[in-house]
Amino acid sequence: MTIGILGVGHLAVSMVNGLMKAGNSESILLSPRGKAKELAAMHGLDVCRDNRELVERSDIVILAVRPADAVSALEGLPWRTGQLIISVCAGVALSQFPPIPARIVRAMPLTATQINASPTVFHPDIAEARALIARLGPAIALASEDEFEVATVNAAIYGWAQDLVRQSILWGQSQGVDGLTMRQLVARTFVAAGRMIAETDEPVEAILKDLVTPGGITELGLTVLEQQQQPAAWQAACEAVLERLRSTGGR
Ligand SMILES: NC(=O)c1ccc[n+]([C@@H]2O[C@H](COP(=O)([O-])OP(=O)(O)OC[C@H]3O[C@@H](n4cnc5c(N)ncnc54)[C@H](OP(=O)(O)O)[C@@H]3O)[C@@H](O)[C@H]2O)c1
Repeated sequence: MTIGILGVGHLAVSMVNGLMKAGNSESILLSPRGKAKELAAMHGLDVCRDNRELVERSDIVILAVRPADAVSALEGLPWRTGQLIISVCAGVALSQFPPIPARIVRAMPLTATQINASPTVFHPDIAEARALIARLGPAIALASEDEFEVATVNAAIYGWAQDLVRQSILWGQSQGVDGLTMRQLVARTFVAAGRMIAETDEPVEAILKDLVTPGGITELGLTVLEQQQQPAAWQAACEAVLERLRSTGGR
């Protein structure tokens, strides 16, 4: 099987690095432009002379151009029945794409694809897409495109989580704790918090109840956060991102 990457930018580099780490049993082809030359040199991949050649030679094409370029990037190319496109372009609805014989699946990977740890939502659930996405982390199919769109807000939440890690490191440093120690401590605490929820069916409220001792420090911090407009601020950020995705596409 041959996978073509149409649009070799930041996300495509993460995805290709992850696919190579997972052990590539297929060949990977790159479109020209962007980071194609350096990525090809790193892994010994072919760069096609143009997108026509990429489409002719690929069974699955990962479309990873910026959202504003997504529709035009598919136009005028020799798509064929049986081919599969996985579009990772934020906010670009299936109905916006031109009518072509290839099937199109939308997916929203995170840059954690490069360590094969990206929980990636996708729609519709097509077996070849699921198999490829699952090599980059947990593959999570959504039943409708509306649900998928809401779930893609999570790609922004991923960045906010990293920003919370950053802020916590800075705070620890400002109190005199070594920065590298804080970095490992806080980042691994976020991993632990996520795993404790992801790896059990126990209701999240029950997990938190065990944690939040009445009168204790976790409760104190949650009270302060609430006084400072949390969780309202977080929910407002989610709403803003969803509105952007629904109106104009992502970034
Ligand atoms: N970055 C993330 O973490 C992330 C996460 C989830 C989803 N996404 C989605 O992934 C997509 C790419 O994001 P990105 O951050 O990787 O953007 P990026 O770094 O700007 O990469 C996009 C690449 O596409 C190339 N390109 C545009 N039109 C092309 C065409 N017709 N043929 C060949 N190459 C073309 C651009 O080349 P030029 O530079 O020459 O224009 C650029 O190298 C976006 O739609 C975004 O919504 C990104």
